[in-house]
Amino acid sequence: MSVTNAMGCGEQHGYEESYRGIKFEVNLLKKVRLEIAVNQDFVEKTTAAIIEGARTGQIGDGKIFVLDLAECIRIRTGDKGDAAIG
Ligand SMILES: Nc1ncnc2c1ncn2[C@@H]1O[C@H](COP(=O)(O)OP(=O)(O)OP(=O)(O)O)[C@@H](O)[C@H]1O
Ligand SMILES: [Mg+2]
Repeated sequence: MSVTNAMGCGEQHGYEESYRGIKFEVNLLKKVRLEIAVNQDFVEKTTAAIIEGARTGQIGDGKIFVLDLAECIRIRTGDKGDAAIG
């Protein structure tokens, strides 16, 4: 998997902060972005594991976007498709 520190907001568009009496809007919050490529058989298991680990039931828990992957090539061996994803 790949893990990236990201900035983002959902439908709440961040929140309002106050510093020395001055209010300002924080529109982007620190988030962690996970990118995980899996074979079709593992999509359900993977999303279930993320939900189990990330869900608090509070707003801002995040979203999972499931995308089709056109191709994967392991550079070292030239493996393609399912074999390359592992
Ligand atoms: N439509 C979207 N497109 C791209 N990234 C998104 C989108 N919605 C949410 N995100 C990303 O997911 C993070 C968490 O979003 P969040 O869970 O707050 O979404 P929400 O729709 O507001 O749901 P909730 O009501 O649970 O807060 C955001 O900070 C952003 O990085
Ligand atoms: Mg939100």
